[in-house]
Amino acid sequence: MCGIVGYVGSDRSIEVLMGGLRRLEYRGYDSAGVAVIDGDGDLGSRKRSGKLKVLADDLKRHPLDNGGTGIGHTRWATHGGPTDENAHPHLGDDGKLALIHNGIIENFAALKQELLDAGETFTSETDSEVAALLVGRAYRETGDLTAAMQQVVNRLDGAFTLLAIHRDQPGVVVGARRNSPLIVGLGEGENFLGSDVAAFIEHTRRAVAIGQDQLVTIRPDEVTITDFHGNVAEFEPFEVAWDASASEKGGWPNFMSKEISEEPEAVANTLLGRVTDGLVQLDELAELDQTLRDIDRVTIVACGTAAYAGMVGKYAVEQWARVPVEVELAHEFRYREPVLSERTLVVSISQSGETMDTLMAVKYAAEHGAKTLSICNTQGATIPRESDAVLYTHAGPEVAVASTKAFVAQITALYLFGLHLARLRASLDERAHRDLVTELTDVPAKIDLVLDTSERISELAHWMADTRSVLFLGRHVGYPVALEGALKLKELAYIHAEGFAAGELKHGPIALIEPGQIVFVVVPSPRDERSLHAKVVSNIQEIRARGARVIAIAEQGDAAVLPFADEVIQIPLAGPFFEPMLAVVPLHIFARDLATAKGLDVDQPRNLAKSVTVE
Ligand code: F6R
Repeated sequence: MCGIVGYVGSDRSIEVLMGGLRRLEYRGYDSAGVAVIDGDGDLGSRKRSGKLKVLADDLKRHPLDNGGTGIGHTRWATHGGPTDENAHPHLGDDGKLALIHNGIIENFAALKQELLDAGETFTSETDSEVAALLVGRAYRETGDLTAAMQQVVNRLDGAFTLLAIHRDQPGVVVGARRNSPLIVGLGEGENFLGSDVAAFIEHTRRAVAIGQDQLVTIRPDEVTITDFHGNVAEFEPFEVAWDASASEKGGWPNFMSKEISEEPEAVANTLLGRVTDGLVQLDELAELDQTLRDIDRVTIVACGTAAYAGMVGKYAVEQWARVPVEVELAHEFRYREPVLSERTLVVSISQSGETMDTLMAVKYAAEHGAKTLSICNTQGATIPRESDAVLYTHAGPEVAVASTKAFVAQITALYLFGLHLARLRASLDERAHRDLVTELTDVPAKIDLVLDTSERISELAHWMADTRSVLFLGRHVGYPVALEGALKLKELAYIHAEGFAAGELKHGPIALIEPGQIVFVVVPSPRDERSLHAKVVSNIQEIRARGARVIAIAEQGDAAVLPFADEVIQIPLAGPFFEPMLAVVPLHIFARDLATAKGLDVDQPRNLAKSVTVE
């Protein structure tokens, strides 16, 4: 959700903070603000509703005095609408302290009443201002920002990352985190804090992930981490695997276009170092190997696109490893008291590694005795830290709010996991294993071929710019692809879109078909042994008979589909489990181009944020 950045060092806070906010804007973009202690020891702050550009323009017109200590925030509104007043930073201690917050303080109402009773006044409707006023009051008592923060965090319930600076302690930024991310960037004579490494990647690649319920105090030459009771904690820096250029647009009109073009690379990089002599070898799961031999069930928990990747993975893992696999939306999982045991493996999938719903599902699973494995794209993120093991996808930073390259990387990681599991459980013969590995390693080149057809898909998207409703159908692994196609269209182009299992059509949704209704159909290969192809072609005929306009995504050379489709988007030949990784690409392109044709911002669709750190 909100993006947070902090800096101590030389007199360039505003540039560092604004650069960090620019890279974090994908986390929330309805308002932004900065606060800086300038060279004269004064605390200045500026905050504006609207995208970061509004704040940047304001700072250009009326510059703040620069200094060596500052914090910055880009907001996704939870408590209180996106107004100037509700934007962060919030002030405390009569304007001497500035504080920013990501998360939700659940007991804010009681604390607010306490502050009102004590004579404090509020200028915003946020829960965050409560923390600013409390830390301000604690500072008056203790005269030390770290001590003040420590006092306050022990009174807060919910999820928070807090950063604060105080005019009387220049050269110090104090942070705290619970259930919300915070990473330190280690510089030379300067240090950084950020919601993720993108906040400071242009300055340093050495980072430290702050743990659950930890406080951090940064000075230009020092970083101190403690728990919420002041006990000093050891920390181990890690090297960020990508550099600043990876989080730049690199000549593309938007991040989404760049990230779609990186889908082949996302698969290839996720495979890198994990296949030896044609067999999957996952060293990072070594400690889990005995557990993997013993489990009797896999439950995949995730949200949105990551859950659709999980649905694709379910078909493969179950088939190859012969273990029952279920997929559940993470926010549903923990509220229904699922049956878990030490023989259940809960696999979470999350690009950001910070999605609160998924994090809470993982914690619930661990508390109830299950083993946990995280599939994640973000080093140092909370979900992998809370899991027994992690399998990183190496898709590189995904900045556009709508997930694209992470989806194919997540499927890749699930397939690697499925093949590893199958090997441990001896459920697949070696020849079959090798054939599947070959198919998987061929996927990047095949996605490249699909990307070559993007012009035709763009034409279709422009032609459909006025469309009000689009349906998506698929079967087997094509079903989650249909769901993903519909989700992308909803969130980017604000068009009503639904994905269905093609077999379900006659049980209700076919009533939606009327003349002119556009329906995308993900067609299985005609070479498929289970005759799914024939069934889907029949489904196409059923909807065509009722006037639907059918756009089929079908294998090259699939002659049977041609007479019944208004348009066929061809994908290269691939085995049944690998088709989804190809068929989804035109759907990503289609949603992007339809949104573009409607003049919408594809990187930052309305009401959304990249990393959903509230429940
Ligand atoms: C849709 C999309 C979301 C995310 C979901 C989970 O395009 O991006 O549905 O997939 O919010 O996010 P992560 O993977 O970060 O847990």
